[in-house]
Order: sequence, then structure tokens, then C-alpha cells
Amino acid sequence: MPSCLRNILFLLDLFVISGTALQLNYSGEAVTTRFWDCCKPSCAWKDKAAFSRPVLSCTADDKSTEIDAGTGCNGGTGFQCSNQQPWSVNDTFSYGFAGVYIKPELTGGKIEDAWCCACYQLDFTSEPLRGKSMIIQASNTAYDVKTDNRFSLAVPGGNTTSHDGCARQYGVDQSVFGAENAGISASDDCDKLPEALKAGCKWRFDWFKDASYPSANFKRVACPSALTDLTQCTRNDDKEVLTGQDSPASTFSPSTKFAALAIGLASLFSV
Ligand SMILES: *[C@@H]1O[C@H](CO)[C@@H](O)[C@H](O)[C@H]1NC(C)=O
Ligand SMILES: *[C@@H]1O[C@H](CO)[C@@H](O)[C@H](O)[C@H]1NC(C)=O
Ligand SMILES: *[C@@H]1O[C@H](CO)[C@@H](O)[C@H](O)[C@H]1NC(C)=O
Repeated sequence: MPSCLRNILFLLDLFVISGTALQLNYSGEAVTTRFWDCCKPSCAWKDKAAFSRPVLSCTADDKSTEIDAGTGCNGGTGFQCSNQQPWSVNDTFSYGFAGVYIKPELTGGKIEDAWCCACYQLDFTSEPLRGKSMIIQASNTAYDVKTDNRFSLAVPGGNTTSHDGCARQYGVDQSVFGAENAGISASDDCDKLPEALKAGCKWRFDWFKDASYPSANFKRVACPSALTDLTQCTRNDDKEVLTGQDSPASTFSPSTKFAALAIGLASLFSV
């Protein structure tokens, strides 16, 4: 009897492992937009997901705030940290952060608990970015369009939304950050931004080729420390994200599972 029980437990274990892997290892097509509203990012609040801690948010003078700080866009002291901006590694690869929305059919119905602090590889599929990729960490949520998977890239000066958050954070006129829903229109205008934001602003006109709503294929990947070092946020399930053939969960193919099931059942009847 004990050996039979052990087999059943082993089988249950197998199915749990492969079930989890399926749920995390998702991919699809997405639209991309840009934002930089200076507000405390949505994934910077506690209990948004099972993670080490929420995304760092910063004071007006760019020092990390305590987790419970209210958003600077509503009278609080928490703003977007300036270093959560994009940078290029080489001509075909960049790192960055994004406000994310992923359709519920991919996440099993979950919302922020599925994407807050998760990392995604975006392989651009439209010109002029075809052949270029990014790995971004979801630091924020982009809820206003729910018909598509969406990554709104955090690009300084890339798109002020209606908030006066940037004016409050940096003590400048909000117009320094460009027009509402569009951002600044030329690379030279990046020089008017606060010093810490200029590089990420110029990234848009250099590496990103000032692309307009580029499309991308995306897939969840384990977060690189280059990104989590800046947010301090790591998801508990990141360890289980499949990154390649050497991942333990990926060795349990359907046929392996059925073989295990057959052995398990056989041993059950032979007791
Ligand atoms: C700016 O943000 C708004 C609100 O999310 C969005 O509708 C718009 O498409 C964005 N513009 C760009 C250029 O990304
Ligand atoms: C660009 O950097 C990425 C990430 O380090 C690397 O995987 C890729 O091979 C590099 N590409 C080139 C063309 O150097
Ligand atoms: C899931 O992981 C496997 C193994 O690494 C990989 O071959 C496959 O492309 C991944 N599937 C998706 C949907 O990303």
C-alpha cells in the first residue's frame, strides 16, 4: 500500500508541475505604446502579486520612498524613479520597463497578480524595428485598452497623459514633457528634460527610431538582474518560468506523463 500511495503522490506532483509551467509559459502578439506620467507605478503598491517587494518608487528628488507612500499624482510623495527608463545594449537589443495589459485568456483570468514585476521579451514585428528585441519588466499597468495585449513602454518625454505629475515631481512646466498623449516631438527637446531623464528620452529617437505604435511578439521570460536591480522586485514564480530545454518542467512531455500514469496504474493493481 505505501508504494502505491507513493506512486499516486508522484503522479499528482508531475501534473502540478506541468500545470504551473503551462500557465506561466505564455506568449502572443501585442501592440506597444509609450508613457511617462511620473506617477507612482501601479506595481509599486503592496499585495499586487506574489513578489519580494513592490517596485521601487521615488521621492521628487529621486530617492526611494517607503512602500505606503501615496502617489505624487494625487498629493502623495511617491513618483516614478528616473532610472526605470530604457537603455540599449547593442543595435538589436534594449532593456526597459512597461505598463502591461495581458488578455485574461492567457493568464487564466488573472490581472496584475499575473504581470506585476514579470519580465517579457518583445520581438518587434513592424518596421522600422523588425529584428530588434527588448526585455522589459512590468512595473505598471495599462488598463485603458483591453482588446489587445499591450506594452506601454516607459520612455521619458514619450507621452504625458493628463496628469500634472511631472510638473510636481520636477518643478518644471508640464509642457517640458511634451504634448498630452504624444510627448515631445524631436530629439533636441530631450535636452529640456531633467538631467536624469535625457538618455532614456534620446533612446526613443536613436535605438527606437521614433517608431509609432510598433507591434511585437511577446513571451514571458525570467527577469534579468539588470532590471530587478532597479526595481528591487522579483516574482516568486520567476524560478518556475521556463527559459530553455534544461528547465526541469520542460522534460515532462505529454508522452512522459502518460508513461508515468501507466506505470502508476500498473503498480496500483499489482499491490
Ligand atoms: C499615450 O497614452 C495614451 C493613454 O494610455 C494612449 O491612448 C496613447 O496611445 C499613447 N500615445 C502613444 C504615442 O503611445
Ligand atoms: C546584443 O545583446 C544581447 C544581450 O546581451 C545579445 O544576446 C546579442 O547577441 C547581442 N547582439 C549583437 C548583435 O551583438
Ligand atoms: C515554453 O517553453 C518551451 C521549452 O523551453 C519552449 O520551447 C516553448 O516555446 C515555450 N512556449 C511558449 C508559448 O513560450
